[in-house]
Amino acid sequence: MTSSSILQSGGISMSFGAYKVLDDISLNIAKGEIVGILGPNGAGKTTYMNLLTGALRPTGGQVFLMGEDVTRLDTAERCHRGLARTHQVPKPFLHMTVFENVLVAVHHGRAVQPANPVMEAWMVLKETGLAHAANRTAETLGLLDRKRLELSRALATDPKVLLLDEIGGGLTEAEGDALVALVKSIHARGVTIIWIEHIMRLLMETCTRLVCMAEGRVLADGTPEQVVEAPEVQTAYFGAAA
Ligand SMILES: Nc1ncnc2c1ncn2[C@@H]1O[C@H](COP(=O)(O)OP(=O)(O)OP(=O)(O)O)[C@@H](O)[C@H]1O
Ligand SMILES: [Mg+2]
Repeated sequence: MTSSSILQSGGISMSFGAYKVLDDISLNIAKGEIVGILGPNGAGKTTYMNLLTGALRPTGGQVFLMGEDVTRLDTAERCHRGLARTHQVPKPFLHMTVFENVLVAVHHGRAVQPANPVMEAWMVLKETGLAHAANRTAETLGLLDRKRLELSRALATDPKVLLLDEIGGGLTEAEGDALVALVKSIHARGVTIIWIEHIMRLLMETCTRLVCMAEGRVLADGTPEQVVEAPEVQTAYFGAAA
C-alpha cells in the first residue's frame, strides 16, 4: 500500500433543509486501501457515498479524486475518472438482460472504450460468478443476483476506486465467504475499495481499516481491532452500556 491519497473528503457537511445529516467528515483514503465503513442505521453512510460519487452536492466541504477537486463534477464524470459504486437498493435496467446491463456499463462508464467491449463484459460476469445468468432479464433475478449484477456493473466501468454499499445482506455463511474472496481478489488487482456493511465479520475478514460513523460524524477510524474495541463504538453501534 502506498501513502498517496486517491480519494479524500475535506470537511464534508450535508443538510436536508434544517436536518443536518453529515457534519464535517474529513477522510483520506490512500491508493490501494480497503476500508470498511460501519455505523447504525441513519448514521449517514449512504449519504456520504452519494456525496463522494456526485449523486448529491454537499452543503459544505470538498471531494478530491486523485488530488483533483471533483466537488462540482457529476457522477458520470467522476465515473469516467475511475470512481464506481454499487447502490444499497440495486438499480439495474429491469427489462434488459444481465449481459446487456453490463455492456451498457462498459460503454457509458469509461472515458476510453476497450478494444473489445463484449469480451470485457464477459470477463466481468465470469469474475462475479454471474455468467450463467447472462441471458436472463434483470427483473427475473433474486436479490442476491441483483446485488451481484450491481457489483458487475460497477466493475464494468474499470474503476480505480470501488464503493460498495451493503452488498452482503442476506447471504448464507458460504455466500459470505465467496463474497469476501471476490472483494479480496478485486482489491488484489489494484482497486481501492470502500465497503459500507452491517455484517461485521465480512468487514473484519476483508478490511485493513475501519471507520465508524454515527449521527453524521466519524466516531472512530483505525485498524479493525482498534475501532471495534473503542468505547464510543461499543456504545453507539453495539449497544453496550455507556
Ligand atoms: N433525500 C433525503 N432527504 C431527507 N433526509 C434524508 C435524505 N436522504 C437521507 N436522509 C436522512 O439522512 C439520514 C442518513 O441516511 P443514510 O441513508 O445516509 O443512512 P445510512 O447510514 O446509510 O443508514 P442505513 O444503515 O440504514 O443504510 C437518515 O436519517 C435519512 O432519513
Ligand atoms: Mg445506507
